[in-house]
Amino acid sequence: MAHQTETEPAASAEITSPAQRNSEASPAPAHEELSPPKNTGMKVLDRSLFTKIFKTLGVKVQPKCIGQFIKKADSDLFNQPRFRNVLEIPEDKPNKLILLKMGVAEDDLSSLTPVTQELISQFGLGFMKKELEMPYEYWSTDDVLKSILPEHLPPPSSFTAVGHIAHLNLRDEYLPYKKIIGEVILDKAPGIKTVVNKLEKIDTTFRNFQMEVLCGEPDFIATVKENDCRFQLDFSKVYWNSRLHTEHERIINLFNEGDVVCDVFAGVGPFALPAAKKGSQVYANDLNPASHQFLVQNLALNKINPPSGTPKVIAYNLDGRDFLRKAFNDLIDSQTKESTNNPIRLFDHVVMNLPATALEFLDGFRGIVANQVAQRIKKAPTVHVHCFSTCLEDPLLDVLQRASQALGREITVAGDEASLHLVRKVAPKKDMFCLSYKLALEDLITPKQNHPAKCSLEHGSDVSSPCKKAKLIQ
Ligand SMILES: C[S@@+](CC[C@H](N)C(=O)[O-])C[C@H]1O[C@@H](n2cnc3c(N)ncnc32)[C@H](O)[C@@H]1O
Repeated sequence: MAHQTETEPAASAEITSPAQRNSEASPAPAHEELSPPKNTGMKVLDRSLFTKIFKTLGVKVQPKCIGQFIKKADSDLFNQPRFRNVLEIPEDKPNKLILLKMGVAEDDLSSLTPVTQELISQFGLGFMKKELEMPYEYWSTDDVLKSILPEHLPPPSSFTAVGHIAHLNLRDEYLPYKKIIGEVILDKAPGIKTVVNKLEKIDTTFRNFQMEVLCGEPDFIATVKENDCRFQLDFSKVYWNSRLHTEHERIINLFNEGDVVCDVFAGVGPFALPAAKKGSQVYANDLNPASHQFLVQNLALNKINPPSGTPKVIAYNLDGRDFLRKAFNDLIDSQTKESTNNPIRLFDHVVMNLPATALEFLDGFRGIVANQVAQRIKKAPTVHVHCFSTCLEDPLLDVLQRASQALGREITVAGDEASLHLVRKVAPKKDMFCLSYKLALEDLITPKQNHPAKCSLEHGSDVSSPCKKAKLIQ
């Protein structure tokens, strides 16, 4: 499991630790990864029951010979994670002890390579038996969870960290062990102070989810860093997904200094703030009052807006369609106030990251610009709309079809410079995408016509990229 904290085990020639209930010294088998004692079914974490003691054999070697020895005998050394092969010998300084792999006995070196046997006879100053105590702190999260969980349940593979919060999405079979899983993660993951488990699928309007605290402080106000900005957020009330980091960065890199950007579903600002830092002006919106509040707070935290003059990010708290209308109006108004015939600049980019339903909001662009100002507009925006698709064999066709239906006219790869970017796999048969395409000025001027667009594939010989062949027909 990710984010493990490990410490070196105690190594001692004489074991005096009281924690030996579970830990009779055992000659560990050769060629085996060490593991803690089995604690299958444990529900209340008793850390002392994970201590294990192993008997090993070491060769005493003069310091000057160590480099050569460990280089040539590498495959025959102890070689356990987070454990040094070379130990001090307090009673025989400055000589060192090189630990051999498990299962080697003083009177039977046959499992060692001839090279190692030769090195021992050439440089060895004698053998020394060593008992190694591996306490709870030594074992990785996976080691401990494997010891606790029944054979048929592998340790949960990962969790997502949002600041100090570790966020799990445990399947039903794991629920009897949820508290102990939380405790082990809290012990081992650096910086984690709260462990939560997701209770439901993300299906709320605001894309946050119900969660249960498994362990640690019930503190949901997290601070995360992304793209050179700091974001504060209440993870129980707003949406945040650290896995979108590269998608945020990808989109921000499409913006040029001086661009005007419209972020319809802005959350707490992962597109808006870095874009503004790069020199864009951003109109950022979210319907969730908590997201809006944290967006405003994050603008202050990152000193994005100047104390006076035009703000770099203007924050709104509206439904997406209302916001589109208001943002276009505000942007146009700010230019028509000054002069009645200068060219009007619209948004360069519109970002719409609400993958479950954002495509449906494309109709919000229709007729958004009044005819009177249309002639003064030079360029319509490029839209980046996120969506899911379960159409694995031809997602471009699927997405274009749905986008076209919402917009009320065909969107084509060639005509609208449309392209589809795979953002991430969200489930075995469901991927998240971003469709980017150039809006036509006509879209902004004329209201939506009700003629559903259909798509079909023009099959070609380029099997590696069938999506490029997508074409729309009425
Ligand atoms: C998937 S999140 C994306 C947030 C952010 N852009 C990001 O990349 O992390 C979608 C956001 O849309 C907001 N939202 C949901 N429905 C909305 C609507 N009808 N109008 C405006 N915002 C909405 C949610 O509150 C949520 O913050």
